[in-house]
Amino acid sequence: MNMAIKRTHSLGKTLPIGNAGLRIPVLGFGVYKIPPHACKVACLSALRHGYRHIDCAQLYKSEAEVGAAVAESPVPREEIFLTTKIKQWRGGADDLRQNLLKSIEALGGGPDGYVDLFLIHTPRFRNGSVKDVWLTLEKFHAEGRVKATGVSNFGINHLEQMKEYASIWPPHVNQIELHPWCQQRQLVEYCQDNDIIIQAYSPLATGTRLSDPNLNTIATKHGKTPAQVLIRYSLQKGWIPLPKTEHVDRVRENADVFDFELDDADMSILDGIDEGKLGACFPANVT
Ligand SMILES: NC(=O)c1ccc[n+]([C@@H]2O[C@H](COP(=O)([O-])OP(=O)(O)OC[C@H]3O[C@@H](n4cnc5c(N)ncnc54)[C@H](OP(=O)(O)O)[C@@H]3O)[C@@H](O)[C@H]2O)c1
Repeated sequence: MNMAIKRTHSLGKTLPIGNAGLRIPVLGFGVYKIPPHACKVACLSALRHGYRHIDCAQLYKSEAEVGAAVAESPVPREEIFLTTKIKQWRGGADDLRQNLLKSIEALGGGPDGYVDLFLIHTPRFRNGSVKDVWLTLEKFHAEGRVKATGVSNFGINHLEQMKEYASIWPPHVNQIELHPWCQQRQLVEYCQDNDIIIQAYSPLATGTRLSDPNLNTIATKHGKTPAQVLIRYSLQKGWIPLPKTEHVDRVRENADVFDFELDDADMSILDGIDEGKLGACFPANVT
């Protein structure tokens, strides 16, 4: 599957996801660590600047604020792609159903609302089994409350295990940490071979590597910032990057990545700085 992003593409570019005509925007806006009180403003700013894809999670405790931004924005709900994730739940099947419904309702749309993509946040699920959650997500998918179902931080072994019980296989998405210092190549190849869309979290390596000399040389060459080069790298790899920022100028900057293209030499320099698990910001999630 060649999903590389060309220079002519824009923030409105989407890719097909699943087989029901759903499409996913190629660039998302991450809200991890944006405090709930600032999250609505940040999401409104992202929507105003053309983002149509927001990544949140129960863990971030800001689903209601994301939902409020979507409700307040003049952009129609059907033009926005919302992702959330479940990390844990306590209790039995009913509690699990209620837990998922709570997220769907917090994100907007009330009793008829839906989430575009619901992910299992981690295979190391607390207080329940991945299988139970997946089978419940499949039911929500059949009911139209969840348009696509996926996983996050799943390695090849976790994805293979799902074959034992999943009716929806492959999962539509695997969201994993990806940037030049953590490339998870085997897993990426496996996902691409199996038509699993890859969302790249921490595409800016959480902002910790922006002074890297190789990165800065490439940024200077293109008259772009290091953050823009990292987002562009992700897009050209065929991943869907989810950069996070609380600053309006960076919201704009991080979306201004469709007027240049990294050439083969740039890509090969960035490909060459992989540090594997050692380069991960969240090594516990890298298999
Ligand atoms: N599935 C998972 O387990 C998982 C794990 C981690 C993250 N995620 C998702 O992926 C999203 C992104 O990952 P992340 O938040 O860990 O890290 P990231 O997007 O790689 O980096 C965010 C950091 O970079 C800074 N930054 C953003 N734009 C910048 C720019 N143009 N110039 C300089 N610095 C910039 C931000 O600071 P300011 O905010 O101050 O601008 C913040 O400190 C999350 O928000 C979340 O949605 C998922």
